[in-house]
Amino acid sequence: MSPIHALLPALALIASTAAVTAQAASDPNSYAETDKVRVTNLALDLHVTFRTHQIVGKAELSLDWRDKNARELKLDTRGLSIATVEIVDAAGKTSPAVFSLGTADKILGAPLIVKFDQQAPKVRVSYATHPEASGLQWLSETQTAGKKHPFLFSQSQAIHARSWVPLQDTPAVRFTYSADVHVPKPLRAVMSANNHPDASVETGEFHFEMDKPIPSYLLALAVGDIAAKSTGPRTAVYAEHAMVDKAAKEFEDTEKMIVATEKLYGSYRWGRYDILVLPPSFPFGGMENPRMTFATPTVIVGDKSLTSLVAHELAHSWSGNLVTNSSWKDIWLNEGFTSYVENRIVEAVYGREQSDMEDVISQFGLKQEMAELKPEDQLLMLAPLVGRDPDEALTDVAYIKGAWFLTFLEKRFGRPAFDAFLRGWFDAHAFQSVDSDVFVAYLQKHLIDKHPGKVKPAEIDAWLKQPGLPETAEPAKSARFDKVNAARTDWLGGKRDAASLAAAKWGTQETVRFLEGLPEKLDAKQLDELDAALHFNGTANGEIAQRWYPLTVRSGYAKARPSIEQFLIGIGRRKLIMPTWEALMTTPDGLTFAEGVFAKARPGYHPITTGSVQAALDKARKKN
Ligand code: BES
Ligand code: ZN
Repeated sequence: MSPIHALLPALALIASTAAVTAQAASDPNSYAETDKVRVTNLALDLHVTFRTHQIVGKAELSLDWRDKNARELKLDTRGLSIATVEIVDAAGKTSPAVFSLGTADKILGAPLIVKFDQQAPKVRVSYATHPEASGLQWLSETQTAGKKHPFLFSQSQAIHARSWVPLQDTPAVRFTYSADVHVPKPLRAVMSANNHPDASVETGEFHFEMDKPIPSYLLALAVGDIAAKSTGPRTAVYAEHAMVDKAAKEFEDTEKMIVATEKLYGSYRWGRYDILVLPPSFPFGGMENPRMTFATPTVIVGDKSLTSLVAHELAHSWSGNLVTNSSWKDIWLNEGFTSYVENRIVEAVYGREQSDMEDVISQFGLKQEMAELKPEDQLLMLAPLVGRDPDEALTDVAYIKGAWFLTFLEKRFGRPAFDAFLRGWFDAHAFQSVDSDVFVAYLQKHLIDKHPGKVKPAEIDAWLKQPGLPETAEPAKSARFDKVNAARTDWLGGKRDAASLAAAKWGTQETVRFLEGLPEKLDAKQLDELDAALHFNGTANGEIAQRWYPLTVRSGYAKARPSIEQFLIGIGRRKLIMPTWEALMTTPDGLTFAEGVFAKARPGYHPITTGSVQAALDKARKKN
């Protein structure tokens, strides 16, 4: 035996260990073996059945085999019933495939394993979703504004696409897609694809194409009695009929935002940018589904003061949808970059005073949240999320510390250099999925090396790899907030009454800042006075409610309870309601009240929101 042969088994061993590690490192939140085979196109044929709360249909996946020895495809599924799997050969001929569903993991779901005699270009899966699919919410007629028709929407990020489509559910894989969607008449279906505001709702059939490669978490579908109203040459809002005019008014600056972003970071590459306003149970503020942002109605407050949400979701058209985190540990590449770009859009469209106020509020929130996080969760560059639910990695660290880091770089290198750098980053990685190491190398080569002496390696390291906030973090400042802070001090010191605060006619952000600077607790007289002058109980502004109700709870101000109950039943957006739920759960009496309200709220909640409230309840019960 020649020496070279003697080495072979050892080499093979090294190679296979490397492959396993690479797999584990690439995305521990997916069963996909992306070094073996990748999905390049998805063709869906879906029947939406409200009676059984199921989507029944077919997914045909085009395959790019990367390893010539691979004979197996592993897809992600959660709660799917698989009827048949067929292999489609190059001539389009189908034959039944041998397949199995592995055991279901609580976080990951179950792998669908398909065996191949030889590598084939396509596979077709016929399946049905579970009525409790984690990525879908089915609303009854009575849970909609119109009360006449049911409503369905998806929320795929982070790993819920697998609960309604069998696929490689990892942001490392990008694919184009098409879909035929069959819905009861006269409902309209919309997707994260090409939507036609004037498509007929008479046929119950909708066809969609997404010709740009997207990651699975951007797959999105909604079905309901949805109307559309144009707001510009490439923008429209979609919403239930009762909401569409109000939404169009609130979001009338969307085209201006697109133009401002294009000026900074190059052309908008997705064609149309439409916004779908969902019912209030939508668990997030917004979701950047390409060509059709999904948004909570809670930002429609009549004065455009919360439209930074649109700036945020639009910004994802560059940071996230164009350049995508390849696994969820690097979510700051999506959310931190987007929060930075969001702020730049707000500055360009509404002015520096507005973006400064929003920055101060965000940074306050980050500090509060960070105080509760373990050190290893305070990093921008997180460890691989092995055995963790990626939704857990979603903290203000990714958003606000991430954005703050980019602001730090902007200040050190100056706007002209930094803006050109960021635009270059988006261009150079367009339609690619990347990790933090790719960014760090690009930063070194295209910014730091080009402008030596502006930052030290240890400063960068502190931002990316150390817990807490680095010394180089300069806090945002707002002159308008200085006035709010002074007014608060005067009011607390008895030098001003609440009526004079109302006379100052603060906007949302000023009111938020006023509330955030108040002491832990106030007495009933103070709360009465504030409420009489500023009408906080029952406010339609969720950002204000989110701060006011916990204050009343901490202060033992039971008068607010009827309004709290209404608020918690009426809205499902997690960020807005969780602080109030959590405040209630800190006392035995509050916990009992919370349990009663949850029993009423739960039927209207999205599975994601139900999960969060349930987890908080379980934790509180253990403590009490
Ligand atoms: N992509 C996120 C929402 C998301 C992140 C859902 C991770 C699931 C997992 C979206 O762009 C977002 O950040 N929404 C914010 C909006 C806000 C920062 C303006 C939200 O929902 O609060
Ligand atoms: Zn975002």
